[in-house]
Amino acid sequence: MLFSTEPKRSLKDLFDREEEVKKLRDSLNERMILLLGLRRIGKSSLVLSTLNSTDINAIFVDVRKVFDNMSRKVQAEKLYEEIYSSLLALSRKEACKGYPTKVGVLLRISGKN
Ligand SMILES: Nc1ncnc2c1ncn2[C@@H]1O[C@H](COP(=O)(O)OP(=O)(O)OP(=O)(O)O)[C@@H](O)[C@H]1O
Ligand SMILES: [Mg+2]
Repeated sequence: MLFSTEPKRSLKDLFDREEEVKKLRDSLNERMILLLGLRRIGKSSLVLSTLNSTDINAIFVDVRKVFDNMSRKVQAEKLYEEIYSSLLALSRKEACKGYPTKVGVLLRISGKN
């Protein structure tokens, strides 16, 4: 969706970032990549769109979701839960790829006595 406030997830929706996409792709084997930029400049869009254009299995965790405003800290347990559920979703998605796409549905209608 072109005007959504969410990060873009596909290169076809990502505007004017060809050079950055190439740089990121070429760096994917590095142990660590820092992608720095102003707020809302398109960092998440760049990462998600680039990763989705490869066959790399990846999870994306936005740590802001687990940032506690009261304590001003990231709660390790919540971060762990977030990573775990993302990994679980990824492994389910991958497992589904191996199965036939046709699914049978059995409907049982019970009649009146
Ligand atoms: N190159 C781009 N092409 C199309 N839309 C973009 C581009 N860059 C950013 N956007 C749009 O701008 C908004 C902010 O993008 P995104 O969330 O990727 O930025 P961000 O740098 O990760 O933000 P934050 O600093 O809040 O994490 C989103 O609506 C996204 O779809
Ligand atoms: Mg972001």
